[in-house]
Amino acid sequence: MIENIKMNNGVEIPCIGYGTYKVSVDKDGVQVVKDAIEAGYRLLDTAAMYNNEEEVGKAIIESGISRKDIFLTSKVANPDRGYDSTLRAFDRSLRLLEVDYLDLYLIHWPADKARFADWKKINSDTWRALERLLNEGRVKAIGVSNFMPEHLDALAETARELPMVNQIEFHPGWMQPEVLEWCRRNNVVVEGWSPLGRTRVLEDPLLVGIARRYGKSVAQICLRWAVQHGVVPLPKSVSPERMKSNLDIFDFSLTAADMRLIDSMPPTGESGLTPDSIDF
Ligand code: A2P
Repeated sequence: MIENIKMNNGVEIPCIGYGTYKVSVDKDGVQVVKDAIEAGYRLLDTAAMYNNEEEVGKAIIESGISRKDIFLTSKVANPDRGYDSTLRAFDRSLRLLEVDYLDLYLIHWPADKARFADWKKINSDTWRALERLLNEGRVKAIGVSNFMPEHLDALAETARELPMVNQIEFHPGWMQPEVLEWCRRNNVVVEGWSPLGRTRVLEDPLLVGIARRYGKSVAQICLRWAVQHGVVPLPKSVSPERMKSNLDIFDFSLTAADMRLIDSMPPTGESGLTPDSIDF
């Protein structure tokens, strides 16, 4: 049911995934991730900074689904940027996740010029470590997250491999067209975090009207819109019902006119997390 997209190194990634940020805050994280696997998600997106890699790893083992059928992503935490520390951080993530490879490993946030005079070197050193992990076959694909065109341009100056993925905040009213365009031009798959705008867009009158016409929920409209843009949305939910309904988006298509209507929504604003506001 969930189709794959081919990345620029030929490896395939599911067209929608499950975001695990904060899954272990209110509920038993292992059970929540098992529910997501049971609901049909095969791409699981975690990060060292989410502090839940151990729970995600246990959920995979307890789910009974074969490791090779899960597309597992984690990310280098900001304090671990740099060549040697990234290699150490990767080993720690594998240990916590109880796996011997990752499908995708990302730089979580770029070192940004607002905070680091040597931001280009820090990012290129971190990237060299990811390229090494890729060459050693310990990860199937590598990428970045929250990289804006200036970070991508700088990385491209020294990189041997361009990122396969850039994971950015992406939802109606916040589609970051300049980043999207850079990634399209360079064949980089865009993943979308907070595809429901952290629920802020769910009451938007334009989206509510469109959802009513299709007989779908606003959340399903947001996710379908992302998928039709070729963006891999990573919705998160702790509710098994909402996990399932967020996957139930493959029995309809938005018309080109409705895609354009959503594209032209006035900016709803971002979550507040941007490379130059991140202070961790
Ligand atoms: P819950 O976990 O109770 O389902 P985002 O992925 O944009 O960051 O949004 C996550 C938020 O959206 C969570 O608070 C989650 O709450 C909520 N959410 C997820 N799916 C749906 C849905 N289908 N309808 C309404 N709210 C949803």
